[in-house]
Amino acid sequence: MRIDVITLFPDFIAQCVAFGVTGRAGERQLLSLHGWNPRDYAEGNYRRVDERPFGGGPGMVMLIDPLRAAIAAARAADPAPARIVYLTPQGAPLTQAKVRELATRERVILLCGRYEGVDERLIEAEVDEEVSIGDYVLSGGELAAAVVIDAVARLQEGALSDAESAAQDSFEGGLLDCPHYTRPVEHELGRVPDVLMSGNHAEIARWRRREALGRTWQRRPDLLDEPALSKADHQLLNEYRARFAEVGDDFDG
Ligand code: ADE
Repeated sequence: MRIDVITLFPDFIAQCVAFGVTGRAGERQLLSLHGWNPRDYAEGNYRRVDERPFGGGPGMVMLIDPLRAAIAAARAADPAPARIVYLTPQGAPLTQAKVRELATRERVILLCGRYEGVDERLIEAEVDEEVSIGDYVLSGGELAAAVVIDAVARLQEGALSDAESAAQDSFEGGLLDCPHYTRPVEHELGRVPDVLMSGNHAEIARWRRREALGRTWQRRPDLLDEPALSKADHQLLNEYRARFAEVGDDFDG
């Protein structure tokens, strides 16, 4: 997959994704990342990329032409058609379903705004979709772009060391993840649940499913489509609720 990022801070994006899974995805050529700085396409001695907004008010608005030229240069660098995604708090919320959809594309161009935003005419003419990473305002789209790149990179075939771990993630099955434990078994902070050391894979899978259902019910009931749950899942969730009513979430069996 190829991702181009239109940004005033290409080095920042490159640094953000240089480590861990995203870094490795780059090294393994599962993902190629290219930055395009609108300032390189701006005119005049000052290479202006922004101007005061018509109608007055605070802040600056990014000019059409430097962005448009940077987008054109990015498009021209590869013949594959690219989807243009603008990162903005006005966008549709980023979900794992959206990440999966983007991850299947051959090419995506991420457009990062700064200041108060981008001239609306550029958005209307060039942008295919607007995406927000949450209901808060960042000072620019770069961190949001890095979030998208990370989430998309780890879904590329071969990016994760254990192919299983992406499928078991929070949200992949529409549920939050179950808790995880490692050595030591006994610690002053507590003991690892016995079932996880039982070697009984069916029981372990059952326990994990119950925890995932229970956590989703407790923490993100908005994600839990109870009527759509299987009979077995209903039973697990009822078990969790019964235990929860007895001892709260402080139980391990
Ligand atoms: N740019 C500024 N805030 C943002 C947000 N919440 N999501 C995506 N892009 C942004």
